[in-house]
Amino acid sequence: MQTPPPVAIAKKYFSMYPDEVLPIWTNPCDYNKHMEIWPKEKSCDHFPSFVIVGPQKTGTTALHTFLEAHPSLKSSKKDPQYFEEVQFFNNKNYAYGIDWYMKHFDDAEKGVMQFEKSANYFDNEFTPQRMFALLPNAKIVIILAEPARRAYSWYQHLRSHEDPVVMNYTFFEVVSSTENSPRHLRDTRNRCLKPGEYSTHLTRWLKFYPKNQIFLVDGDQLNKDPIMTMNKLQKFIAVAPYIDYYKMLRFDKEKGFYCLVEQGCLSPSKGRKYVPMDAESQRLLKNHYAPHNAQLRTLLTDLDRPHPRWLMTNT
Ligand code: A3P
Repeated sequence: MQTPPPVAIAKKYFSMYPDEVLPIWTNPCDYNKHMEIWPKEKSCDHFPSFVIVGPQKTGTTALHTFLEAHPSLKSSKKDPQYFEEVQFFNNKNYAYGIDWYMKHFDDAEKGVMQFEKSANYFDNEFTPQRMFALLPNAKIVIILAEPARRAYSWYQHLRSHEDPVVMNYTFFEVVSSTENSPRHLRDTRNRCLKPGEYSTHLTRWLKFYPKNQIFLVDGDQLNKDPIMTMNKLQKFIAVAPYIDYYKMLRFDKEKGFYCLVEQGCLSPSKGRKYVPMDAESQRLLKNHYAPHNAQLRTLLTDLDRPHPRWLMTNT
């Protein structure tokens, strides 16, 4: 009897099971046998204790920057390609393996917790499963900001980068595009709106992580009262010492946001000033997000979590 050569079998197998093309990296530190064959320099301390997973344009940089100012918290190393982010679980970097990820973290100092922030993790369909396989004990931090405001901020962000699609279309043209619109416009609409469909993404995270490992930040509160947010978050991640952010943050009238007393405000690319959203887009987004917000309300009630302020006023 003859069987096809191994490569042909592999090709056939992966064409039938494309989800398995990439392995799922599990945590070597969880298995004694793996630890025995791991070189000494590969320390289990090169993994984060908690991860800010996004979504984009909800205040992730502010949260990341405020946490970095804490003496017992250390962020992942900066990658010139992704600025302050690592972006391991959500894209091609995952194929580089655990070593690649670990290189983004230093040797742990005693009493210091490491963390990372990658704002595209939240709405990426692969990330929760992959992250749970590698970091089952990590705490997950998610910011829920008013989704229409988030979408508009995203559009403005792309305009400031002179994205060729958004430069040619108004915000309303982007968010009102339909199945019959050109492909590039539909894609932009999806990238603009999908991250704000919070209930769908949060449900995916909850399939893997237990609810007590997930911390939800109210995006409005992070904007207007970050001292409260930082106080709650410190308790959740159980960091010591507890720092009073009242002494670290000051409201800057000119910027219109809180800034660190010592380091100053975030870069001008965060907290931009732009014209308010037009009424037609507001109406459209209100309708678009209504069912998602209703589901989020139910989900948060089931989880016994407070509803963000914007969700209480948004019907
Ligand atoms: P805008 O620039 O549209 O106002 P991210 O860091 O996830 O990209 O989010 C950017 C958004 O963070 C900003 O959007 C701004 O509204 C919000 N933000 C929250 N706190 C901030 C702060 N202290 N300084 C600047 N921007 C802040």
